[in-house]
Amino acid sequence: MKTRYSHLVFHKLDTVNNPNSIHGIYPYRGKISALDAENIIKQFDENAVLLDPFCGSGTILYEAQKHNLKTIGVDSNPLAITLSNAKITTMDENDRKTEIKHAIEIINKAKTDLKNNDYTDMPKEPKKSFHIDSASEIMSIK
Ligand SMILES: C[S@@+](CC[C@H](N)C(=O)[O-])C[C@H]1O[C@@H](n2cnc3c(N)ncnc32)[C@H](O)[C@@H]1O
Repeated sequence: MKTRYSHLVFHKLDTVNNPNSIHGIYPYRGKISALDAENIIKQFDENAVLLDPFCGSGTILYEAQKHNLKTIGVDSNPLAITLSNAKITTMDENDRKTEIKHAIEIINKAKTDLKNNDYTDMPKEPKKSFHIDSASEIMSIK
């Protein structure tokens, strides 16, 4: 079956990550670079609705919104939802500030927790959101 977007071209992904961009707010595991996201997004029709069912920290959602696409993001990881919400460009400015504050609080809590505990294995709660191999890779770069 020929789909509407069968013409999309997926270039080899760049690994560029700019820590000074909004996406540098958190080093989310598996985050796509903004340039790669844009390369895909700019091939969509301007009235397209983009669904990212594994939106992670929202790089694709944010870049799609910059191109005025309507977006829907889903993720099973509550941290991913908080980070994505903090970046959503279409939300009211006060709500956005609240989301960013919430994201920073969570990040600081996580940093303190990591400093005060000598984890060798990923704690039970975040472990629920990752494949066992991903969890062990994340802990190995801790
Ligand atoms: C590689 S990350 C996505 C990164 C994202 N594109 C970005 O740029 O930040 C994959 C995401 O899939 C989510 N995920 C894995 N299994 C899922 C499921 N069954 N339902 C929803 N989200 C899931 C994970 O929590 C993770 O955030």
